[in-house]
Order: sequence, then structure tokens, then C-alpha cells
Amino acid sequence: MTKKTEILISPSILSANFAHLADDIREVEGAQCDMIHVDVMDGHFVPNLTIGPIVIKGIRKITKVPLDVHLMIENPLRYVEDYVNAGSDYITIHVEAEPKLRHTLKMIRKAGAKSGLSLRPKTPLKKILPFLDDVDLVLIMSVEPGFGGQAFMPGVVKKISDLRPKYSGMISIDGGINPETAVQAVEAGVDILVAGTAIFGAKDRADAIRALRSCR
Ligand code: DX5
Ligand code: ZN
Repeated sequence: MTKKTEILISPSILSANFAHLADDIREVEGAQCDMIHVDVMDGHFVPNLTIGPIVIKGIRKITKVPLDVHLMIENPLRYVEDYVNAGSDYITIHVEAEPKLRHTLKMIRKAGAKSGLSLRPKTPLKKILPFLDDVDLVLIMSVEPGFGGQAFMPGVVKKISDLRPKYSGMISIDGGINPETAVQAVEAGVDILVAGTAIFGAKDRADAIRALRSCR
């Protein structure tokens, strides 16, 4: 079921060149991406470490594109205010990572950002259903979170088609997305495609964004 007319593209800077991050972000901004996806990892919830609010603050100064911040961290409640204050527009937390889930989602909204909720590929969709009233965006993980460049897991597409009729907010998909794998996610009803390797690994990033946007 294809519900929305426009697909939004959120390039994941995990695959950008961190020594030239501003250049890479300006390039995808110039190519009309709709958001910038920022992967935050704590070495506990996932076996990798990335960036903190100080980097978000730096990015905020060089782009007007909405920042789509994906917190792969345990107990995100401790940090959501810092990430909002640093300039995040969307803050997505993991259903597996926070015991005070509803409170944290409400805090994100109260602090002035849009709230997002994500789930690992093996986590059943029913775990997130009780929280949908407090969620602006659901992020379906199509790889095990932690690293870019992994293969898309087609089994998660059913979560999108199961969720779509129950939820009027935005649905995003993250992991292994390229113009081929994106087709099934778009047909199932996603609004946002997150892509790292397929955009920052491409010779022509503007072409890569166009290819994703027109993948249906
Ligand atoms: C994985 C991250 C993804 C990752 C996607 O934990 O959440 O955002 O950067 O990278 P690709 O598109 O290369 O799978
Ligand atoms: Zn991500």
C-alpha cells in the first residue's frame, strides 16, 4: 500500500567522512535531502561508539536541514534534554533501551523536538504499539543496530505493512537501504528512507538521493 506521495530522504552521516563532515553535509543539503540522520551509539546498547551532543551542536551551526537523531544508547532519558538543546529536531529512542519509555517520549516533545521510537529487527511490533500516541515517528530497523554497510533484512517489511493501517505518523526505515531494497519498504508504506552507504558511498551523491526518492 503506497500511502504518501512524497518519500523523504535522510542521509546517515555514519558513512560520511568525519574529517570533512561539514562538506559532506552541505553536499547532501545541496542535493535536497530532507533530513540528516545522526547515529548516536554508546558502546553499551550497541557495540560501537560514535558522537555526543557537542557534535550535534556543531552540525546545527552549518545546516538548516532538520536533524534526525537516532539514539542507540541505554537509558536515553538522562540525555534527551542535552540532545534537544544541541539542536536535534527528531529524537528517536529504542523500545529495548528505556524502562521509563512513555515519560521519555513525553520529555522529548516537551523539550521541543519530535519524538521517535525504534525497534531492533528481532523485537516484535507489538512492543511499540502501546506508545504510538506519544510518538511522531517510528523507525523500523532493517539491520542489527551498531554499524553501517550491513545487508537489508527483508523480514522486517511485514512490520511496516502491519503498522501502516494502525498509525498515521511517519514511518522510517534504517539499514541496508538502496534503490533496490527501498522498493519493498516504500510499497509497504514507509515515509522516510535512511541511507548511509548508498548515499555517502556513491560517486554522485545527488544522483543517489534522486535514485532513492524515485525508487517506487
Ligand atoms: C545502524 C544505523 C544506520 C546506518 C545505516 O545502526 O542506525 O543509520 O548508518 O547505514 P547503511 O545505510 O550503510 O546500512
Ligand atoms: Zn540510524
